[in-house]
Amino acid sequence: MSRSPRPEVCSVSALMPDTPKTWHYGLVARWWAEFNEDGREIGYFQKYVERGQPALDVACGTGRLLIPYLRAGLDVDGCDVSPDMIALCREKAEREGLSPTLFVQPMHELNPPRRYRTIFVCGGFGLGSDRERDTEALRRFFESLDPGGTLVLDNENPYSSEWPWRHWVKNQRTDIPRAWEPLDATERRRGSDGAEYALQSRVVDLDPLEQLATYEMRAGMWREGELVQEEEHTLHISFYFKNELLLMLERAGFTDIVIHGDHREEAPTKDSDFIIFVAKKP
Ligand SMILES: C[S@@+](CC[C@H](N)C(=O)[O-])C[C@H]1O[C@@H](n2cnc3c(N)ncnc32)[C@H](O)[C@@H]1O
Repeated sequence: MSRSPRPEVCSVSALMPDTPKTWHYGLVARWWAEFNEDGREIGYFQKYVERGQPALDVACGTGRLLIPYLRAGLDVDGCDVSPDMIALCREKAEREGLSPTLFVQPMHELNPPRRYRTIFVCGGFGLGSDRERDTEALRRFFESLDPGGTLVLDNENPYSSEWPWRHWVKNQRTDIPRAWEPLDATERRRGSDGAEYALQSRVVDLDPLEQLATYEMRAGMWREGELVQEEEHTLHISFYFKNELLLMLERAGFTDIVIHGDHREEAPTKDSDFIIFVAKKP
């Protein structure tokens, strides 16, 4: 029996060396559009958007937050470094008769078409970048807000999950990167287009001195049982602790900074996975 040739493995980030290293392209973007639609964050950030419009959703992805907000009649623009995420976000919005202002821009080069009462970042800060770019991103958020405006930014604590926290310890870094499992063995999910999708990820490197991790992701798409597309992507994550991010926000000019835990309007505890920073431009 003849077998189809294996699909060519494509690595988008390798083609764009200066672009922030994030894996939200191609099949990974499709996965987000298909399977990431809910979450506690949506209601949490919505309250801030209701209190201050217009608002900008930085790293909006495929519109998990943005689209429900537009549906609710809120005035929100969106931007993201990934043209693939933005294209899928636009497609989803248009399917509902919505036509938001969306633009492709890495956050350290943010230069939006208008000023905002609220800028929010959900699950995007520290991705694809480095400390210098993240510092510049905070400066640009400040510049893009109206006086009196609010930045709402979430950050997952570096110690929130055992993976990759255990690799901060020297003798726990010897086993990375681990070998890939066969892609065929990974659990698949069926998309609205009838194709099946699967993702795998691994930590490739972790530098605790620079608080920087490199991850890789493999994505596959199957039609009628046959693997028809396979991709590999790289992601850089810069880790930030609560107190350093507070200092970085202050250095960017923000004041009256309040912190919350796990997308509830309550003070965080030592068990909170996410810290949310609510900061004012004077
Ligand atoms: C985890 S997803 C979150 C998407 C959306 N905020 C949500 O919560 O559904 C992260 C998003 O950040 C974007 N991103 C990563 N690095 C970025 C950067 N340096 N500047 C702007 N967007 C970035 C990715 O393309 C992706 O859409």
